[in-house]
Amino acid sequence: MTNRDRPRRLRRDGVRSLVSETGLEATDLVAPVFVDATTDERIPIKSMPGQERVPVDGAVDRVEEVVSTGVEAVMLFGIPESKDAEGSRAWAQDGVVQRATRAITAETDATVITDVCLCEYTDHGHCGVLEPDAREAPTLTVDNDATLDLLARTAVSHAEAGAEMVAPSSMTDGMVGVIREGLDDAGFDDVAIMSYAAKYESAFYGPFRDAADGAPAFGDRRHYQMDPANGREALREVRLDVEQGADVLMIKPGLPYLDVVREIRREFDHPVAAYNVSGEYAMLHAAAEKGWLDLDAVARESLLSLKRAGADLIVTYFAEDVAADG
Ligand code: PBG
Repeated sequence: MTNRDRPRRLRRDGVRSLVSETGLEATDLVAPVFVDATTDERIPIKSMPGQERVPVDGAVDRVEEVVSTGVEAVMLFGIPESKDAEGSRAWAQDGVVQRATRAITAETDATVITDVCLCEYTDHGHCGVLEPDAREAPTLTVDNDATLDLLARTAVSHAEAGAEMVAPSSMTDGMVGVIREGLDDAGFDDVAIMSYAAKYESAFYGPFRDAADGAPAFGDRRHYQMDPANGREALREVRLDVEQGADVLMIKPGLPYLDVVREIRREFDHPVAAYNVSGEYAMLHAAAEKGWLDLDAVARESLLSLKRAGADLIVTYFAEDVAADG
């Protein structure tokens, strides 16, 4: 080996940080916040240690905690007081996310992003209204086109409450287009859309479904979320959302789909987001509880890897911990 081939030279303290390719800033992170209309107190989420559902009255305090770590954006999820077949509490003016958004935008400096989906609001737990025979013989579960208008109404109601960005996550074909049109027609042309553009039908969402009480009562989401086997299809999905006016392109989950994050980064010039989902959070916590992994180190490495793959921003339950550690 010649003296020329010594990459280790650049790993010396003081040099290492100069040549570091990827940074991880608190301002790159979005913290999910669960607001629950059925409770007066905070409820810990068992499968997601450190995460809680907070009452509507406690949403501002919860967001203040996030902001105090340096994280500037939150993603709101709602647990409504009641559910029905259409998910009508999703677009109610006095709905859980709408009330929380009004309070948070009035009383804090946080940027509010809202998840736009119906699965927490429908009594069957699917992300839209059902096809007539979905329960008996599901070939397709959700009636795609009948769901579009409900999503647009939900997004507009979030914008009316003060949301800066809406994040449709139902994988309904055409959702970005109708939401853009709905927002523009209502005068919200400044409200951005972060589309869950490539969202896979993933088993890594398990803990979230406890957290937000949105598990499907029958069947699964394979008819509308993407097949984990498919990579090229993600490019098609994303392209459609770009054509319909998406501002930020999200890939979800994160770590098992780094290849997709990289491809989307290369192919498009929009900001790319990755969602480091509940199962990614839960598995690191579970291993750390056993003493098998160093939680802070693996959390930071996970997020850094998502950034290295090409994500500009990351939605993550680790946001506060990683930001607070600097
Ligand atoms: C709503 C939604 C889900 C997640 C975000 N938005 C659940 C799902 O699609 O089943 C999952 C987030 C996570 O697991 O952290 N559709």
